[in-house]
Amino acid sequence: MKVIEEASWLRHELAAFRHERIALVPTMGCLHEGHISLIHQAKKLADVVVVSIYVNPLQFGANEDLAHYPRPFAEDARRCQAEGVNFLFHPTKLYDDAGPAVTLRVAALADGLCGAHRSGHFDGVATVVNLLLNIVQPDLAVFGEKDWQQLTIIRRMVHDLCLPVDVVAAPIAREADGLAMSSRNRYLSTTQRQQATVLNQVLCQMHAQCQHGEQQTGVLIDAGRCLLHQHGLDAEYLEVRDENTLQAITTIGQQPARAFIAARLGNTRLIDTTILRESAPCN
Ligand code: PAJ
Repeated sequence: MKVIEEASWLRHELAAFRHERIALVPTMGCLHEGHISLIHQAKKLADVVVVSIYVNPLQFGANEDLAHYPRPFAEDARRCQAEGVNFLFHPTKLYDDAGPAVTLRVAALADGLCGAHRSGHFDGVATVVNLLLNIVQPDLAVFGEKDWQQLTIIRRMVHDLCLPVDVVAAPIAREADGLAMSSRNRYLSTTQRQQATVLNQVLCQMHAQCQHGEQQTGVLIDAGRCLLHQHGLDAEYLEVRDENTLQAITTIGQQPARAFIAARLGNTRLIDTTILRESAPCN
């Protein structure tokens, strides 16, 4: 595995592999099994796997955890090496000191869910992912379904900008008790870690109610909020939306309906999502 800090050097190295299939797995590091599952997916689909680790300042708000975001680079590099990653791209900086003069702006898809609570976040994500795709020029790039809104926005960016890359989605990797894996889980105290399992429980309850024929998303959401309160938590959002358009759904019908949750435990913000209904109606 080669660790590379310079974009131009990575492009130079990759020039020798352009006849092979190249996959990119963009990350911000502090790798966990969720990231590793993306690497496995990439290895299955490509000959050469590039993992990027870059904590992108553009996607952090003023009051967010940019300065404290965990950066255990040596451990991350060991894991990538063990997983057979070919190139680990670890830029010290990607933008000029004053920041990029040209950025991307994501319209409606970024308005709700996380976008409503993290102003400018998805503009920062789109800008850096576009830049990483331009540097690596991979045949495919793998993203996790855990960040469904991010995945949807990246798919749309690839479509709108006609980028020559396949976007591959990887399922959510979870802890044994259902908590979605996240680099931020390590911030949780023991009590918060126990409380955190309720996020997935809420989604499972909504899924079960939907399976039993409940179609009113208001009912699913109220019951979900109730369960959260029983565990001393409040949702930043708990919503049901069309998983492709991200439009809100009030009655579950023919559209693919997906539940989305975000909650704060102390200073830590966790998110999770699950499909409620795919193409066939709940029975
Ligand atoms: P990061 O949070 O490090 O996540 C990197 C990738 O791992 C994303 O595609 C994310 O959806 C995926 N991922 C995280 N937890 C997962 C889990 N439990 N199961 C499956 N996949 C999971 O997302 C980002 O970084 C950044 O926004 C980035 C795309 C790198 C742009 O800076």
